[in-house]
Amino acid sequence: MTSAFSILLAVIFLAIVLVALMVYLLTEVSDHLSAKLKLYPEVTEQSYRLEAQINYVRQLRKVILYVAPIFLIGVLVYYFVKDTPMEAFVMEWLNLLVRWIHVVVGIMWIGASFYFIFLENNLNRTEGIRDELAGNLWAIHGGGFYFLEKYKVAPKVLPKHLHWFKYEAYFTFLSGFTLLTVVYYMDAKSFLIDPQVADISTLTAVTIGVLTLAVGWILYDMLCSSSLVKKPILFGIVGFALLAGISYFLMQTLSSRAAYIHVGALIGTIMAGNVYFIIIPAQKELVKSAVLGRPLDPTLGKKAGERSLHNNYLTLPVIFIMISNHFPSTYGHAWHWGILMVIMLASAGIKHYWNLLERGQKTRFILPVSVVALISLALITSPLSDSLAEDAAPVPFAQVNTIIQKRCIQCHSIMPTDEQWNLAPNNVMFDTPEQIQTMADRIMVRAVRTQTMPQGNKTKMTEAEREKIKNWILQGANIE
Ligand code: HEC
Repeated sequence: MTSAFSILLAVIFLAIVLVALMVYLLTEVSDHLSAKLKLYPEVTEQSYRLEAQINYVRQLRKVILYVAPIFLIGVLVYYFVKDTPMEAFVMEWLNLLVRWIHVVVGIMWIGASFYFIFLENNLNRTEGIRDELAGNLWAIHGGGFYFLEKYKVAPKVLPKHLHWFKYEAYFTFLSGFTLLTVVYYMDAKSFLIDPQVADISTLTAVTIGVLTLAVGWILYDMLCSSSLVKKPILFGIVGFALLAGISYFLMQTLSSRAAYIHVGALIGTIMAGNVYFIIIPAQKELVKSAVLGRPLDPTLGKKAGERSLHNNYLTLPVIFIMISNHFPSTYGHAWHWGILMVIMLASAGIKHYWNLLERGQKTRFILPVSVVALISLALITSPLSDSLAEDAAPVPFAQVNTIIQKRCIQCHSIMPTDEQWNLAPNNVMFDTPEQIQTMADRIMVRAVRTQTMPQGNKTKMTEAEREKIKNWILQGANIE
């Protein structure tokens, strides 16, 4: 038995003991609290608090029981595949699995959020509404008729089963952070760091990434506690400026692709933080007041409403950023920062138009301005701005081939030599002239226009070489 393996076994043994101990302790605490709860025949402030504590302890125990085995199996698998040909394969499947979960729970979260905004904007608030109601809505879906009622405050008797929408948000955050770790933090050299932007160590880069999320949330939360929140327009301007500053900083430290995804992750963190720290606690207080028959504190609902509104405006920008990684023409362009800002503003503008539309308010400018901004952005950064110098000499294919064999083939080949990519990425190979010619358009995008290839310029491609490739493609990409 190797010593590394015995250490692994020892760690696993310790972890199992620790988990068992925690589960035992939590069970004891929960039993103790339950015994105490029995002393209260009626619902009071104390009994209510006890019940909440019991639920909390039981949930914590459940989380530990689910997470610990998954984590242990993960560590074991990682130990056995590390530095074997299976490593890249396992990482790819892990990436796929986590991404799949992230997208599904993300759809559930944003979907529910869009649905409730739709409800709020479409409630019938006038015809035949009972006094205690704010409105109702008839709907037909999936072959069934639905009738929904919204209360002004709370029903006189709280229902036994009250559905909460919160796990969608929590799981979106957790799966998102896991995905960030799998794609960017565990493979920092490929995707997180770009030595041409900043030649930093993996540890520094990961620290910058994680701190951005934490500090970004704290700054946002401080902004929300300031008096600025009373002036929505000013709040929007300051909030956007803050986000723009953080984005700018990230683009000076991480690869542009990682910078984009971290801005998205920060927005996602703010949205999930709003649910976890503000909206759900406020709702818990509301339910508590209703159960104990106390007057409701109106500031709570208001605060939750504000955060909910912020989340609403952030939905379209965050979804764009999450898919932006498939579009190097955005993050890879020389103006990547500006592009990100315009897309964030324009998509929030579209969301604003959409909100007003659902409320039956017409606006003249917001939609056209947002759409024109997006189209102009696409045009300005399009190949229309590529130009062939008048005096450019014809570039023979042989020269281009030499460059590609020198700078790209390490990864893009049937037999890659790169230590990291033992399979041609995206199945793109440049072994034959035909393969190069077929991919000419994408080569233009990745190696010339956006310079996102070679990845992190690992093979040190020069400006002159990029210029040659560009001229060859603009001259028709002939391989004769
Ligand atoms: C160090 C390894 C490495 C080198 C060297 C490299 N690439 Fe890539 N390439 C990748 C990886 C990883 C991907 C997939 C991830 C992505 O798209 O960013 C990729 C994807 C691509 C794609 C397909 C994605 C698309 O946008 O269609 C093209 C085209 C490409 N590279 C062109 C090139 C060219 C041209 C060169 C040489 C100038 C080059 N690459 C050098 C690693 C490399």
